[in-house]
Amino acid sequence: MSDPDGVIDRDALLAAAWRAREQAYAPYSGFAVGAAVLGISGRIFAGANVENASYGLTICAERVAITAAVSAGERRIAALAVVTGASQPTPPCGACRQVLWEFGPEAEVVVENRRGERRHWTARELLPEAFDSGRLA
Ligand code: THU
Repeated sequence: MSDPDGVIDRDALLAAAWRAREQAYAPYSGFAVGAAVLGISGRIFAGANVENASYGLTICAERVAITAAVSAGERRIAALAVVTGASQPTPPCGACRQVLWEFGPEAEVVVENRRGERRHWTARELLPEAFDSGRLA
């Protein structure tokens, strides 16, 4: 998934995110999202968005994937892939950027839409001047 030089296999990570998207529970928005996290061990953890009749309790696909990784002991994230059926490749929401920062400040984020259009950024580009444990001092 990532070779010894740390090059990330974006195709494989995106494929895992597309598979996870099939399990999205999005009856309210109709906006299904899939995500996949690559841990530094090489393991992949995937997730989909899970909505609720109490709308504000919805959990984004990215946070489902990140918490799956962390709860399996994978605390350092090398990359995050996000896929949607939107007309534009969609970057993670602000809350998910903050949660990603906790475990992958050096992570790459790659996103793809239904047309196969991709964009990518670093976590740092998506969350400049981030708040983290270093700010608690
Ligand atoms: N959603 C995600 O899963 N990830 C994002 O980064 C943005 C939004 C979900 C939440 C909700 O279920 C639906 O997309 C519409 O906002």
